[in-house]
Order: sequence, then C-alpha cells, then structure tokens
Amino acid sequence: MVGSVMYPVERLGISSEPRRGGAGFARRATNTSFEPRDRMAVTTTGLTKRYGDACVVDRVSLAVPERAVYGFLGPNGAGKSTTMKMLLGLAHPTEGSATILGTPLTPKNRLEVLRHVGSLIESPSCYPHLTARENLEIVRQLRGLPKSEIDEVLKIVRLDDPSLRRKRVGNYSLGMRQRLGIAAALMGKPPLLLLDEPTNGLDPSGIHEIRALIKDLPRMFDMTVVVSSHLLSEVDQMADHVGIIRKGQMVWQGPLADLHARGRHWIALRTTDNAHALELLSGAQADPDDASYLRIKAVDDAVAARMSLCLAERGVGIIRMEEHEDSLEDIFLAITGMEETL
Ligand SMILES: Nc1ncnc2c1ncn2[C@@H]1O[C@H](COP(=O)(O)OP(=O)(O)O)[C@@H](O)[C@H]1O
Ligand SMILES: [Mg+2]
Repeated sequence: MVGSVMYPVERLGISSEPRRGGAGFARRATNTSFEPRDRMAVTTTGLTKRYGDACVVDRVSLAVPERAVYGFLGPNGAGKSTTMKMLLGLAHPTEGSATILGTPLTPKNRLEVLRHVGSLIESPSCYPHLTARENLEIVRQLRGLPKSEIDEVLKIVRLDDPSLRRKRVGNYSLGMRQRLGIAAALMGKPPLLLLDEPTNGLDPSGIHEIRALIKDLPRMFDMTVVVSSHLLSEVDQMADHVGIIRKGQMVWQGPLADLHARGRHWIALRTTDNAHALELLSGAQADPDDASYLRIKAVDDAVAARMSLCLAERGVGIIRMEEHEDSLEDIFLAITGMEETL
C-alpha cells in the first residue's frame, strides 16, 4: 500500500491548527476543578497613575472573573503594587475607573465597598509589641467580626501553635509575619482578596504552603484572589487567570490555559534514515534546533502509530519519537517581546 506514495501529513490526520487539549493542556484543565464564574469580581477601565512625568500605570484594564485566582505578573517596578493600591483607595488614580464586586468605586462608597475586600499590600503592617492574636483582635474589632474568626484564620495560616500564644510579633520571622498578614486579610472571609507578592520573604516550605492555600481559597471560601508576583513559575502554579504587566502596561490577560495553548506543540523524530522519512511524511521538516531530528506538528496516538508503521514498512527505523511543547517562558517571551524572562 505504501509504494511510492508520499504520506501527506493531512492524510495522516495531522491538523495544521495548533493543537489544544494535548497531554499538557489536559493536565492543566484538570488542575482547577473549580471553574471561575463569568461575572467579574474586579474590572478597571483605563486605570492610570502618573507620578510627575512618569506614567507608572498606563491605561490598565483588568478583568478578574469571580472565583478566579488571578495572577498579576510583572517584573519589579512594572506597576503591580500601584495598581493594587488604586483598587484599595491607597493611591488616587490619575485617570480611569474601577468596579469592585459589581460596584463602581467612588470616593463616597469606597469604605463600604472595601469592607468586602481583604488585602496584603507590600509588607504586612502589624504592631510588633503585640502577639498575633492581639494584632488580629484589633482587626476583628474594627470590622465587627466574631471572636471565632481569630482562631479560624490563625489555623488556616498555621500560626495556631500554642507556643506562639505569648510570642510578640516583633520576634516573628519575616515568613511568620507574612502569614500573619495573610491571616489579617482573611478575617471575615471577604469575597475578594488582594495579595501583593505574598510569598516574598518565605522559605521554600512556606512558599509551597501559601501557594497551596491561595489555590484553595476560591473553593474553600468562595473567594476571588488577585495575587501579584514577579515569578512566572509561581503564577503558573497558583493561578487560573493571568494579567501580564510591563512598564505600566498590560501586555496580555486571559485564562492561563489560553496562554499555554499559544505555545507550539510538536513531535521530534529521529530515524535511521531521516532523508527518507522526510520524503514519506510530507508535513515533516528538519528540526531547526537539532539537525539529527525531524519535526512534525503534534498528532494524536492513532496517527502517531500509523506514522510509525508507515516508516517501518519502508524500512525506516524510529530511534526517538518525542513530544515537545513550548515552555510557558517561551510563550511569555514571544508575547511580551522581552529578551529575557522575569
Ligand atoms: N509614591 C511614588 N512616587 C513616585 N514613584 C513611585 C511611587 N510609588 C511607586 N513609584 C514608581 O512606580 C513604578 C511602579 O512601582 P510599583 O507599583 O511598586 O511596581 P511593582 O509593584 O510592580 O514592583 C516604579 O518605577 C516605582 O519607582
Ligand atoms: Mg510591588
């Protein structure tokens, strides 16, 4: 059957469209069992902040779906903290507007709207001469919350060890203070949480713990979380939505799965006779990164099996057949036009 017939990739069922739902994407789709809703927890329109001549946040339009973990990603100085401060009324926008939990933010309703927002911006502020409980008691009284909230949030961030009962926060490590800051933000389980680089200063196990907690918050408490980070890998691990900000401008925003789907996905093939294989598989091309390989667009298992049989029938042995996809870093660099990653 093979004869001198070329095997056009199309005939083998190889789609010329970039493939979605490949192994990598399927894994990601099951990553978040809790899908965000269609409604938005935060939107901004043309949000801008200028300090003198410097435009540090430049017409940013955020769209944060309810129940998302929205990773706000950008290098140091990109404008993440300034954007978050404007959402919290801690910095006054030069231009633009924001809607939080369905309500357009105005100077008049700001306090009422922000009662429903928990936040941790830059380093946590607390009274060093007081214990964690005493610090949280102040927050509790300000917000009129029940006493049980304190025990609950201390447990969530694992600062509930009895040995810490008398310890003053001034004697806490940076990581413990950071966890206390997150506990304060969680008081009352607000529907929206804004966390500015919450893993800063934590040791690896603390980082792991906080990332896992953030990922669980939408499911545990029906929350939306906006979390900023300068680490691509961190956002990849925690978030289901991402907004990439660079020099004050939003360069990309959307579901993380869409970002991954923008990557190329291919099979690298090394055979006993690449020249012959190249003739047999018309969609194949020399691998630009490694001359000993051919490259074809990713195909499903059945097509890959047919391809290998076709080669075998013609006496071409397959030495290697490897599935590859662009890393998130490759995709990120292509989108942002940056020369190096964050
Ligand atoms: N109060 C301020 N006055 C002048 N410039 C500021 C002020 N706050 C922040 N900036 C500048 O705005 C830019 C963005 O800062 P920031 O929002 O803190 O970035 P990020 O949080 O992404 O690291 C930086 O260049 C910073 O120096
Ligand atoms: Mg910052």
